Parts: sequence; structure tokens; C-alpha cells
Amino acid sequence: MCGIVGYIGTKEATPLLVDGLKKLEYRGYDSAGVAVLEQMQRRISVVKTVGKITNLEHKLAECMPKGCVGIGHTRWATHGRPSDVNSHPHQGCSADFAVVHNGIIENYLELKEWLVKERGHEFMSETDTEVFAHLLEEFYEGDIVNALRKTLSKVHGSYAVGVVAAQEPDKLVAARKDSPLIVGLGEGENFIASDIPALLNHTRDVWFVEDGEVVVLTKEGAAILDKHDHEVNRGVFHVDWDAEAAEKGGFEHFMLKEIFEQPEAFQKTLSGRIQEGKVRLDELNFTTEDVERWEKVFIVACGTAYHSGLIGKPLIEEFLHIPVEVDIASEFRYRNPLLNERTLAVFVSQSGETADTLAALREAKAKGATTLAITNVVGSSIAREADYTLFLWAGPEIAVASTKAYTAMLIAQYLLSVYLGQVKETIPEDKARAILEALRQLPEKAKQLLAQKELYQQLARDIRDAQSIFFIGRGYDYNLAMEGALKLKEISYIHAEAYAAGELKHGTLALITKETPVIALALQKNTYEKTLSNIMEVTARDAMVIGLAEEGDTEIAKWVSQAIYIPKIEDIVSPVLAVIPLQLLAYYTAVERGCNVDQPRNLAKSVTVE
Ligand code: M6R
Repeated sequence: MCGIVGYIGTKEATPLLVDGLKKLEYRGYDSAGVAVLEQMQRRISVVKTVGKITNLEHKLAECMPKGCVGIGHTRWATHGRPSDVNSHPHQGCSADFAVVHNGIIENYLELKEWLVKERGHEFMSETDTEVFAHLLEEFYEGDIVNALRKTLSKVHGSYAVGVVAAQEPDKLVAARKDSPLIVGLGEGENFIASDIPALLNHTRDVWFVEDGEVVVLTKEGAAILDKHDHEVNRGVFHVDWDAEAAEKGGFEHFMLKEIFEQPEAFQKTLSGRIQEGKVRLDELNFTTEDVERWEKVFIVACGTAYHSGLIGKPLIEEFLHIPVEVDIASEFRYRNPLLNERTLAVFVSQSGETADTLAALREAKAKGATTLAITNVVGSSIAREADYTLFLWAGPEIAVASTKAYTAMLIAQYLLSVYLGQVKETIPEDKARAILEALRQLPEKAKQLLAQKELYQQLARDIRDAQSIFFIGRGYDYNLAMEGALKLKEISYIHAEAYAAGELKHGTLALITKETPVIALALQKNTYEKTLSNIMEVTARDAMVIGLAEEGDTEIAKWVSQAIYIPKIEDIVSPVLAVIPLQLLAYYTAVERGCNVDQPRNLAKSVTVE
């Protein structure tokens, strides 16, 4: 997804902008560019190109714009294919303005027609963003903030925009609606960015910009203006991640680093939330009346976050004694779900910016449901708009493939379900105690699992040439199998599918041959014998089977080519540990196949279009 950076200060802007863009690479992009205001000449120089930031650096090496004010962008194409001309920044006819934009201007065709036919503008690109630059030009009367306001009043859709104007070389302005934007506050310099990693080399003090607000930066100061042009008194958020946390820190890929960060992430997600046998979630503070009012719960999310919800569903049903539906966010709104004030709607999203999840949240809110976000990103749209937010505190996740956020989402849902059950007094005390004790043991047990990485490297070599791989399991194992299959296909590009183990014989068994590896999860004791029979069904078809079982299980090894053992843990908490081998297997398989692990083809970290 597009990334924005902007700088105003006393240093050369170009290298700063390029550095910031590199920190946003994780968002996925297909082109990059910068615009720098050459203050003496009151001229804006734009350098942009399709492809990776290295292409941009090559171009900049030939003609580096000089100046201390600038904006930069990484684009993920929506309107118009990836090309030099469609890359941002965009300028109007006079080149007096430069604009970077993240989001979609929904009425751009109508505006473009008006600008071309009625006002004689000529357009260079196929993008929606270019109308923005032409509108600024149209409305500019010596005050860029006014021109920006007028432009914003004409556009419909979502945007985070950064703007520089040749006539006002001491200003950088920005605005947001439905796309992330933050301000970085420095000494004699200020910044804008789509996300914190872009700023960490320069400042740790940030403001989160809200929808409808306009930002005005000079090198000496920064201001946020509300829609009536009143200055907003926004609290400073001090980022206490060390710079290392947003970098790869010695690992070959962010994904591997994030897999290995899980014991620490578990600790953080749990931190302070279990006290004297009770779950304590200060940010929720629900009363017994609140919880008793809910007759139904929805869990709504996309991708990996959706998979975490599949595990949350049986937990809440069991501990709260009310039905739970799990929905893919992009389907949810269109099926007119039964939402009202007796519903709790939970939205799970690592980024907190996923457009479908955000739209589903708005729908639920409009229909009177209590909305609760589970997210990793403070200041994200979903966090800000939900009635309540449970943060994951898993630290920044950079790799497109979600790993530590998934396990943190699971932990958050164990905590939430036990918490709600305790408030409503519907969870048996011994059950709650057993789960909380299992959660407490997770960091240590995850470390044990992570110590066996050679095993996964070997297994990756065994499966790297497969055309298709099946993941099977029952109950929680089946829900986890879906996540295992997604992880493998997302980064290794091997076709992978998850099946409820008992369902194979109803059709899919026809696809099992000796060329089709099967990853079988057999961690749930109540279905263990049945899963074992399903494993026998596939071994009888000569499939190579990798079995996941609990430490001490001597039976499974007789039926599989390779057994992977998970430290003993309460059955229902086992997915948090069992996913680690699946993540490592996917990772090493992708490495074996020479894939771009952190930025798989066609995918973006944060999907901010519906
Ligand atoms: O930021 P979110 O959790 O809302 O993102 C949802 C999905 O786009 C995301 O989980 C996606 O499926 C991951 N790339 C999977 O690894």
C-alpha cells in the first residue's frame, strides 16, 4: 500500500526522504518518487520511477534535487498501471505544486472532466491523484492551506496527502481522511509519514492525525487544524520502540525475525493482564450488565486475522454461552448481518487500517452494536473508531506475512474470552485457571520450539518441489491448518489447502498421491484417534505426511514420514505453539524456492482498498 514521507528542516531533504521510503517498503509498492522544493529558485524538482527504491536511487544519483523541504512516496497501483508517469509525486500544469497521496479519490473522473473541459487543464497520468494537483492549482490564491481546504471539499474518497507549493517554500501541508498519517516532531525540523518506522531515525515524538484534519509544518513548528481551522491541542505520543525493533536486526528477513520475536511478543501481550487468577483488561472495563446484554458476538476480519477469529469463536461460545459468528470482512456488509444493541462485534486487524474491516466496523456501529477492535497499531483507524480497543502490543510487524501478530491475536482472544466469561460468571473457575496457566507458560515453550530450526530447513528441502500441499486437522487443529496453508501459499507460491481431516474422503482424497505432501495436525485429544485414521487414509495413498503432535506421542511416528513435537500444553491453547512450526516450514520453503519472503508478489502489508 502507498507510503508517504515528508520533511521540512535544515538538512538536505532527498536522502532523508529516500531513507524514510525504505522504512515503508514493507507496505508493498510498485514505484517510488520524491519532490524537493528548491527554495532559492522557488521551483519543485520531481524524480520518480517505476520499480524499487534502488531504481529511484539510480535516477537520483544522476540528478539529485537540492533543498530542505520535500515529499516522497511509494505507490501501489490502483488507478493506472505501474509506470513512471503514474508514479507520485504528481504536479499540475504549472508544476507549482507537488502532491503525494495514499487512498482513492472516488469522483476523480467527474473532477477531471470538469478540469479538462471547463478549465483547460491537461493531464499527464491515468491516476486519480493527479486531479488533486490540478485542483490545488485551480484554487490557489496565495495561501496553500486555503487551496488545500477547497480541494478537500471537492474530493470524495480516502486520502492521506502531503503537498508542497513553490510559492510557499517554507511550508509543507498535509491532510487525512481514512488513510493513515502521522506527524513527526523534531528540533528545527518536522515530518509527515504513513507510519512510525519512517521517522524513527529522526524523532520519537509523533502526533496521530485524525480524519478531517489539516497539518501545517514549517521547520520551526507544526500545527494540526480542525475543520473550522482551529488549532488542535494533540497529545504527543512518544514511541519507545528502539530503532532495532523496526529493522531486521541480524535476521535474513523480517519474517524470520518476527517469528523469533514471538516469545517476547507473548510476554508483552500478556503483560499485566493476568492478576490473581483473573484477566484484567483495564481498557475494556465492561460491566456485568454490558456482557449480559449481548445475545450474539460477531468476529470480523480478513486473512490471517480472520483465521485467528476462527479460533476465538469456540472460545467465546464455550465461556460466554452465546453464539458467535466469524465473518470475512469483505463479505460481512453485503449480507445484511443481524446487528443491534444486543450484539458485540469484534474487529481483528494487525494494521488497524484494512479497508474492508474498517467498513464492517462502521456498519456495525451504525446499527447499534458495541464495537471492539483487536489491533496492533496505536492510532490506527480501526483503533480510533471502535468503542473499545484491545491492543496486541506485539511490536511493529514488517513482513507481509503475518506471524507474531497472529499469535498475539490468538492470545488476545484467549484473554478476552476468559475475561468476558469471568465478568458474566459463566466460565468455570478451574477452566479459567488452566487456560491462564497455559498462557503464562507460552513464552518459555515457544523458545523451546524455536530452538529446532534445522528440522524445518530439512523438511523445507523435502517439500520445496511439490505442486500442491494439504493441511489437515480437526477442531482447533483445522482452524490452525487454514493459517498454515495461507502462510505457505502466500510466501512460497505452492498451492496449499486446508481440510477438515474428516472431510477428505468426501472428495479431496482423490487428489492425494505420493507427490502430494500432507501436513497433519493431531494435537486435539478429543479427536486424536479419528485424526490418526485420517492420517492412515493419506499414507495408504503414499503421501509423504508430516505430523504435528504433542511431545510424548509415540503413536503418530508410526504413521508419518516425520513427526514434529509441540511441548505439552492445554489443548485449546496449543494453536499458539503449533503455528510456529508451520510458520518456519513456510519460511524455509520460500527461502529454498528463492522467493521474496518479506514482500511476496502481488501482496501488500496493509490493504487499504476494498
Ligand atoms: O492488517 P490486517 O490484520 O487487517 O490484515 C489482514 C490481512 O490482509 C492479513 O492478515 C493478510 O492475510 C496477511 N498477509 C497474511 O499473512
